[in-house]
Amino acid sequence: MNTPRTGSRMEASLPSSSYCSPAHWERERTALLAREWFCIGREEQLAAPGDHVVAEVAGDSVLVVRSRQGELKAHFNVCRHRGAALVAPELDARWKVVSSGGVSAAGTIRCPYHHWTYSHGGELLNAPFLGADDGVCKAELKLYPVAVEAWAGFVFVRLRPPAAPGDRSLAAQTARAASRAGLAAYPLADLRVGHRIEYEVEANWKLVLENYNECYHCGPVHPELCEVVPAFRQAGGNELTWEQGVPHRPGAYTFTRSGTTRRKPFATLTPEEVLLHKGDLVYPNLMISASCDHVAAFVLWPLGPALTRVQCLFLFDAAEMARPDFDPMDAVEFWDQVNRQDWAICERVQRGLQSSVHERGWYAPMEDASLDIRRYLAGVLGDA
Ligand code: FES
Ligand SMILES: [Fe+2]
Repeated sequence: MNTPRTGSRMEASLPSSSYCSPAHWERERTALLAREWFCIGREEQLAAPGDHVVAEVAGDSVLVVRSRQGELKAHFNVCRHRGAALVAPELDARWKVVSSGGVSAAGTIRCPYHHWTYSHGGELLNAPFLGADDGVCKAELKLYPVAVEAWAGFVFVRLRPPAAPGDRSLAAQTARAASRAGLAAYPLADLRVGHRIEYEVEANWKLVLENYNECYHCGPVHPELCEVVPAFRQAGGNELTWEQGVPHRPGAYTFTRSGTTRRKPFATLTPEEVLLHKGDLVYPNLMISASCDHVAAFVLWPLGPALTRVQCLFLFDAAEMARPDFDPMDAVEFWDQVNRQDWAICERVQRGLQSSVHERGWYAPMEDASLDIRRYLAGVLGDA
């Protein structure tokens, strides 16, 4: 039996197969990712009636719409007639055609194939040249519904009802981030995207979360970040106080190369909070890092056992963004360096886990938060 020499405070990691096996991925996709609240981005993308986004969630295409009544509505992106994708602008672009379908501000979703037309809420309003005499029962031909809710300006969808017992409401799923890490003091819902970067990381989505959950790696992997936040490399990340926030070095207060910025701190923070860095995550796919003047939000899109798209959204105060001299790049460039260091190390782990000899690894005591992924999966999938 493969046991750690350092004693009982080491905990077994998830087995390597959990990160590599197509069968395990398929189970996570259908039993977890499709049944948990899954973050698809920011509410500002859906500000006005008719605004809509298409999101690929756990292998399914989802259409999220701001309705004429101002509510968020979500449906599987498939027409009930013959199954055409309702919205697929990339196909029109590929074939250089102009689709006659789409989502209107007036309240309709029209399929471009035969013009079956639905309300934003998914009711079938019109099937051209067809009626009840033809056997068209509108009540039975609504768009397939998807649950949708917002928290802190982030939009979440859930494709299917949860399989796991217990409270799996969005409020329960976000409760820890909303309170434990002190993120409540940040005006998250009011922030706006000032910049975004997208990465394709050849690593399992859980490795990205586990890596985010520990700072044992910060000293070896992030020397520049540790210059700004020396606490990250002290004691292997053992003594970090995420609940209160992590202090920067004297004179520094944000995640930029200099540790300073021209942007004002969020008005909701106390002078003490301004000097601290906060962070937390919302399983399964949102990670939040909060500085006093900007928030870096990471939305993970698991695409396969060893492929994860990561959208890094840089959120700022709208008033700061409106200033003529607004420039997000001090934060963006610093984060981009830190992110690349993280993705490179996650890909190394993915590569190592594919080794024929490595059945599982170990979480050290300071990686207790990484161990959290094991608890989370057990709660959702019911695995021991
Ligand atoms: S497939 Fe949509 S109207 Fe025919
Ligand atoms: Fe890192």
